[in-house]
Amino acid sequence: MIYARIAGTGSYLPEKVLTNLDLEKMMDTSDQWIRERTGIERRHIAADGETTVDMAERAARAALEAAGYGPQDVDFIAFGTTTPDMVFPNCGVLLQARLGCRGAPAFSVETACSGFMYALSIADKFVRAGEAKRALVIGAETLSRIVDWSDRSSAVLFGDGAGAVVLEPADAPGIFSTHLHADGRYKDLLYCGGGTDLSKTRRTIAMSGNEVFKVAVGTLGKAIKETLEANRIECSGLDWLVPHQANLRIIQATARRLGLPMERVITTVQEHGNTSAASVPLALDTAVRSGRIRRGQLLLLEAFGGGFTWASGLVRY
Ligand code: UT7
Repeated sequence: MIYARIAGTGSYLPEKVLTNLDLEKMMDTSDQWIRERTGIERRHIAADGETTVDMAERAARAALEAAGYGPQDVDFIAFGTTTPDMVFPNCGVLLQARLGCRGAPAFSVETACSGFMYALSIADKFVRAGEAKRALVIGAETLSRIVDWSDRSSAVLFGDGAGAVVLEPADAPGIFSTHLHADGRYKDLLYCGGGTDLSKTRRTIAMSGNEVFKVAVGTLGKAIKETLEANRIECSGLDWLVPHQANLRIIQATARRLGLPMERVITTVQEHGNTSAASVPLALDTAVRSGRIRRGQLLLLEAFGGGFTWASGLVRY
């Protein structure tokens, strides 16, 4: 039996930091409101001309280095993003060209904040089927380019960045299971136009925050339980919850429902804001590099975003 394991992680954050105090000067908001309602203190913003693939390349190279592989070893690229450089070629292909690894499949997945989790699930299946040996899984976003900077209710939430993992075959899991879901009935609560439906004239993020919040908390609790039950373990058996970093209150409410102490939850939303598909791999890499997440530990990853789409998975790092 072949399983997939995480051989290495990497991430990248743009140099420019935008603090809540900076935002106070740009719009009618306050550091206090943003901290109290979201936990966010600062976020990173891509430089002029810096793209999603620019950031993904940095994260990918860091993950490859951590795994002890080179770009020539990569034989599969799954790329989660909602903010692609171009309509096509997809970001996976653009990243492949940068890395100089030819011929292998490379594609992007547009499932908003769940993009990395969907990409991870697909890559896991290819590794387990013996069809990929060094799979690069990316979550990268330049959300600052699709934020409506005149809408204080959403502009304060988002940030830019990229995260990556390299998967390799192993005799034991690695990835125990992943669980993907979607419910298109919620399509109007969180969306961004700009595609070929010209009637969708809004080309910036539109979000009914309060309604999204309520569905997110309920859905994430169920998603975590589903993953625990599928693997016949209790919450107490987890070393870490690595949640989607949208709002500290959503993370706290989810942890509370599960009876999981916050000491065992990785939070980076304070520093990164909501980076959509990049949020889970960014949180994972940050915790790995700071020494909190260690080899052999059991992690539950989850994400929730526009669609709605949501996903979770159990991983032994
Ligand atoms: O990653 C994908 C999934 N996304 C999420 O999970 C996000 C989910 N939603 C949320 O995180 C929260 O709903 C928000 C952080 C977006 C909003 O927090 P809230 O506690 O739900 O606030 P609200 O939208 O109910 O607004 C409360 C008040 C309003 O004023 P009134 O009508 O009560 O007078 C807003 O106008 O806060 C006001 N407000 C602000 N005030 C200062 C909204 N945005 C701001 C702001 N600064 N930036």
